[in-house]
Amino acid sequence: MCGIVGYVGVKPAMPILLDSLEKLEYRGYDSAGVALISDSGIMIRKTRGRIADLRKIVASVPADDCTVGIGHTRWATHGEPSDVNSHPHLSKSGRVAVVHNGIIENYIELREYLRARGYSFSTETDSEVVSELIDYWYNGDPVAAVRKAEQQLKGSYALGILFAEFPEQIIALRKDSPLIVGIGEGENFIASDIPAILKHTREVFRLGERELAILTRRRVTVFDHLGNQVRHETEHIAWDATAAEKGGYSHFMIKEIFEQPDAIAKTIAPRIDDELNIRLGFKSITDEDIRNINSIKITACGSAYHVGVVAKHFLKKTLNIPVEAELASEFRYDDPIIDEHTLVIIVSQSGETLDTLYALREAKKRGARVVSIVNVVASSIANESEEVLYTWAGPEIAVATTKAYSTQLALIELLCLYMAGIRGSMTKAEIDGEIRAMQAIPAGVQSLLDNVKSVQYIASLYFNCQDVFFIGRNIDYALSLEASLKLKEISYIHSEAYAAGELKHGSISLIEDGTLVIALCTYRPLLEKMVSNIKEVKARGAKVIAVINHDDTQTEAVADHVIRIPECKDIAVASLTIVPLQLLAYYIASLKGCDIDKPRNLAKSVTVE
Ligand code: G6P
Repeated sequence: MCGIVGYVGVKPAMPILLDSLEKLEYRGYDSAGVALISDSGIMIRKTRGRIADLRKIVASVPADDCTVGIGHTRWATHGEPSDVNSHPHLSKSGRVAVVHNGIIENYIELREYLRARGYSFSTETDSEVVSELIDYWYNGDPVAAVRKAEQQLKGSYALGILFAEFPEQIIALRKDSPLIVGIGEGENFIASDIPAILKHTREVFRLGERELAILTRRRVTVFDHLGNQVRHETEHIAWDATAAEKGGYSHFMIKEIFEQPDAIAKTIAPRIDDELNIRLGFKSITDEDIRNINSIKITACGSAYHVGVVAKHFLKKTLNIPVEAELASEFRYDDPIIDEHTLVIIVSQSGETLDTLYALREAKKRGARVVSIVNVVASSIANESEEVLYTWAGPEIAVATTKAYSTQLALIELLCLYMAGIRGSMTKAEIDGEIRAMQAIPAGVQSLLDNVKSVQYIASLYFNCQDVFFIGRNIDYALSLEASLKLKEISYIHSEAYAAGELKHGSISLIEDGTLVIALCTYRPLLEKMVSNIKEVKARGAKVIAVINHDDTQTEAVADHVIRIPECKDIAVASLTIVPLQLLAYYIASLKGCDIDKPRNLAKSVTVE
C-alpha cells in the first residue's frame, strides 16, 4: 500500500525522505516521489519504478538547502503505475502539494465539481482531486483550506500537505488510513509506519481519526475535527533499529521465519505464570462475560484469516460452541448474526487492514464482545477494540507474513485455553498439559529450522513446476490454505488448497503426469483417508510431498518425499507444520529469483477496501 513520509527540520530533507521511503518499501509500491520546499516554490520529482530509480533522478538536483519535504511510495489503485500518476500531486497553481494513502471514493464527483470551477486534471488518480480541492479553498489559511476540502472528501485518507506560501510547515490529516508523527530534536516527521523514521527518532504518536497536525521544526500542534487542540503522549519505541534491518539474511522473509521461536516465546511466556495460570489482562471482559458467550466469530484478511480457520477447529472442540471464521471483506456486508453473547475475534498483524477495521466496527455496532489480536501497538484496530491481545512478534517487514501468523496462532490457542478454564470445559490438569505442550512449541520450531536441508533439496527438485495442489483434512486443510498462499504470493506458481475429501468432486481432473501435490497428513483421526487420497492422485501420475507426524510410516510408504514434524502434542502440531511449508515457499521463490520481500502487486498493509 502507499507509504507517506514527511520531514521538517534543519537538515537536507531529500536524503532523509529517500531513506525513509526505502524503509516503507515492504508495503509494496510501483512508483515513488518527493516534494520539497525550495526558494522558487514547491519542487516535485517523481517516477514510476523503485526508490533506486528516484535516486537517479534526484542525484543532480541541487536540494541541499531544502529542509522541508514530503515523500510517497505509490501502490496503484486508480490509474496505471506511471510517472504522471505518481505522487506528490502539485496543484496547477503550484501552491499545494499532496501525498495521499487511501481512496477518495467520490473523486469523480469532485472532479466535476472542480471542473465546473475552472480546474483541470492531468492524472488518472483519485488523489489529484485532493491537491486541487485544497487549492480551491485556499485563501491564505492552510488549515481552513484543508478542513473545508475534508468536508467534501468521502473515503479513506492519510495526507501529507505542503503549502508554498508556508515554507516551514507540513500539514498532516488522517481518516481510516494510518499516519504517525515522530518527534525529534529541532525536527519532526510524519510517516505511514514506524520503521520509516526509527533512525531519526523513537518518540512517536499516532494521529487519531480526523485529527490534523501542523508540523514545524520546533513544534507539532494537533487539532481534532471540531478544531479543539489535542495533546498526545508520545510512545517510546524500544525496538532495536536492526530489528527492522536484514541482519545478514538474504531477505526479511527468511530472517522472520528464523525469528519464529523467539517471537512465539515472547508472545506466550509472559502470559503464563509459574502455576501455569494464563494471564491475559482483560480490562472489561469479565469471567462472567466469558461464561455467557454462546458463539464465536473470527474475522480477518489473508493469512490472519487463515489463522482463524485453524483456530475455529480447536475453539469449537474445546469450548463446544459454534465457531465460524469469516473473511472481513465478506463479514461486514453479510448482516452477521451477532449480539452481546457473541465473541468476535479480530486478527490483524498491522492493525490497519481496512476491511478488518470495518468488520471490527460492524461487530461493535451490533453489540458483540470484541477481542483483537494485533501486532502493531496502538494501531487503528488496537485503538478501537474493546480488548487487545498483542502478538509480540516485533516488526514484520516481508510482505508474506510468517512470524505474525505463528504468533497469532499461538495467542489464539492461549485465549482458547483461558476461556476453557473459565467455562470449565477443561480441567486445570488438562489445561496445564496443553500449556506445557505450547511452551515446547519454540523448541519444536527451532528443531525444524535446524534441519532446512531436506526442504531445500525438495525445493531444488520442484521449483520449476507450474501448478501445485495442497490437500489436507480438518486442521491440515486450514494449514493448506496458508501454505498455498505462501507459495503463490512469493513464487508466482499457481497453487490451490483443497479439502482432500473434495478432490473427487472436480479438482482431481487437473491431476496429470508430474503434477505436484503437497499432502498435509498430521491430523491423526483422518490419516487413513489422506493415505487413500494420496494413492488416488499418485494413480493419476502426481508427485507427492507429504508432511507427516514423526511416527507415521503408513504415509511414508506411499509418498514420494516426506517432511517429518517432530514429536509434539496435538495443540502444537499446527504451529510446527506450517514452518517447513513457509521454508519450501521461500526456497522455491529464491531458486526462481523472485523479489521475495516485495512480491509483485502485493502490499504488506492493505489500507484500501
Ligand atoms: C496483506 C498481507 C498479508 C496479510 C493480510 C492481512 O494481504 O500481504 O500478509 O495477512 O494483508 O493483514 P493484517 O495486517 O490485517 O494481518
